Amino acid sequence: MFEKAEELKKLFEEKSNQAAASQDVEQLRIEFLGKKGFVTGLMQELRNVPNEKKKEAGQKINELKQAIEAQIAEKLEEIKKIEEQKLIDATESYDETMPVSVDVGSYHPITLVRREVESIFLSMGFAVEDYSEITDDYNCFEALNIPKHHPARDMQDTYYLSTNQLLKTHTSAAQNTILRKYKSNLEQGNPIRAIFPGRCFRNEKIDACHENTFFQMEGIMVDKDISISNLIYFMKTMLSEVFQRDITVRLRPGFFPFVEPGFELDIQCLICGGEGCPSCKDSGWLELCPCGMIHPNVLTAAGIDPEEYTGFAFGLGMTRLAMMRYGVKDIRVFNSGNLKDLSQFTEKSFTNPENESKEA
Ligand code: PHE
Repeated sequence: MFEKAEELKKLFEEKSNQAAASQDVEQLRIEFLGKKGFVTGLMQELRNVPNEKKKEAGQKINELKQAIEAQIAEKLEEIKKIEEQKLIDATESYDETMPVSVDVGSYHPITLVRREVESIFLSMGFAVEDYSEITDDYNCFEALNIPKHHPARDMQDTYYLSTNQLLKTHTSAAQNTILRKYKSNLEQGNPIRAIFPGRCFRNEKIDACHENTFFQMEGIMVDKDISISNLIYFMKTMLSEVFQRDITVRLRPGFFPFVEPGFELDIQCLICGGEGCPSCKDSGWLELCPCGMIHPNVLTAAGIDPEEYTGFAFGLGMTRLAMMRYGVKDIRVFNSGNLKDLSQFTEKSFTNPENESKEA
């Protein structure tokens, strides 16, 4: 009996060393501790042991049983750890240096147009600035010569937050901040030149031409003797670059409290060349960019002397520009999140930056 118990112990150890998966251990448990298992069999043999040795033999079998149980638990724990690690290795192990060969996405058409316009203005010495989407009444309206209850506010109803803040209705909301930031340029004899693209929000009834969330790109330039001809030059240059052809522009009077004089800049219709077609509602012109000479009150609000300096500002409708650039007829496409629609405008889908620079 005692020898048998020792043998079983050895046998168990041998087998347990070979067990590599939790199923193997379960098999072992059944084999040794199950109803018809070795240990249970040994218990039954206890009947044949002479009375005086029964107690000792019983203890021996119990010890064996407990030892096997403990080892099984230990083995299971060990295997669980190994299996978990294997799973982690399989899912998390990757080689950073492996080239990515699958296409993982494409740029949003607004991003493409924004980058294009940014690089054109960068090449003309403009700084590209970022500005938050949440602002306040002062920056969005008051600093722009739009006092409380001014009728111009009716056009720009927006989403008000409980914190006395609001979602900006136009990129002009950053004018005061940017003018202040670069004011020292003027003292050093350099102009202020900056563009600041951004997402804007308005309480708008949505249809094919109107969205409550859209993109603009604001641009300002301030220096001594800046005039409307500077404004026309920069706009013409930028648009000719974007559309890769000579663009004819015209200015019409337009009212915005933060510019004086204010204009609507139109471009000659690219589809009919000015003859008149459905795209330009037979007028031959497309409205693209409100602009004007920065109002003296706006310069003063930023601590710049309007007697000494003048400047222009424009608010390019980037969403509209993207619509024209890519021939998108419905503005709702941009915020739709519909990849089938959005990825078709992408000139190149991207994989990883490395592949991209090879393509370029
Ligand atoms: N912020 C104006 C708008 O969104 C556009 C604008 C910008 C007009 C700069 C003049 C100068 O309606």
